[in-house]
Amino acid sequence: MTRLAGKSALITGAARGIGLAYARRFIAEGARVAIGDIDVARAQAAADEIGASAVELDVTNQASIDTAVASVVEAFDQIDILINNAAIFTAAPITEIARADYDRVFSVNVSGTLFTLQAVAKHMVGQGIKGKIINMASQAGRRGESLVATYCASKAAVISLTQSAGLNLIQHGINVNAISPGVVDGEHWDGVDAFFAKYEQKAPGQKKAEVGAGVPYGRMGTAEDLTGMAVFLASNESDYVVAQTYNVDGGQWMS
Ligand SMILES: NC(=O)c1ccc[n+]([C@@H]2O[C@H](COP(=O)([O-])OP(=O)(O)OC[C@H]3O[C@@H](n4cnc5c(N)ncnc54)[C@H](O)[C@@H]3O)[C@@H](O)[C@H]2O)c1
Repeated sequence: MTRLAGKSALITGAARGIGLAYARRFIAEGARVAIGDIDVARAQAAADEIGASAVELDVTNQASIDTAVASVVEAFDQIDILINNAAIFTAAPITEIARADYDRVFSVNVSGTLFTLQAVAKHMVGQGIKGKIINMASQAGRRGESLVATYCASKAAVISLTQSAGLNLIQHGINVNAISPGVVDGEHWDGVDAFFAKYEQKAPGQKKAEVGAGVPYGRMGTAEDLTGMAVFLASNESDYVVAQTYNVDGGQWMS
């Protein structure tokens, strides 16, 4: 399969988890991939394993974004595809939310998404590249959750930014769309499980088992479950798809 032959992609937060599955699949589809991650050692190890490049990237830092984008452009000549995948999770009851924690989450999930998107969009517009930008939303962005106000609000913002950026950039032939996963097993959800163990007095692993059983498909998602949608949105087959957020969640959410 070479649905992305000749394309160059930057995937943020791809040292592990869903981003790494995207990187692996994109390479199998013929793309060149740069893994941009704050955990540069892990990004480099992952890149070496799958035949990608690694670039140090902290999406909360404008200089880091600009340097990383410039270095990927230098290595690949251009960026055709950006996946804004880097994000962090937090949970707390409303009365315990700390401003610093809120700022940290919004800095990665919202500002990080917007300003990485902006830097790559400037490059695409400047070079006349009809590129594809994919943002990682979440079912958390579709509705609030009692203990997850900050993360839910950050992902609602990602859905909104996808709509505005999608509408603004399609005049340049740049498609901006988003993927909204449900519950995907991996290190991210190990962390989520730990928050629920703390706030809902659950045994380790219990929340994971409960959410998995609650998915209409019958289990939690895997990172690989998401890669088909990412390839579609990164390919020319999605040229007429603008400003949308697609649920890939085993039937968790319908909208
Ligand atoms: N796993 C799920 O159940 C799930 C569900 C819905 C949405 N999502 C979204 O999918 C995306 C990927 O999730 P995942 O499960 O693979 O997460 P993950 O926590 O396993 O990986 C996130 C990656 O982002 C990197 N990162 C963190 N801060 C960064 C920064 N400032 N700059 C650059 N990189 C940074 C981390 O080092 C890590 O490699 C995220 O946007 C997440 O919110 C995940």
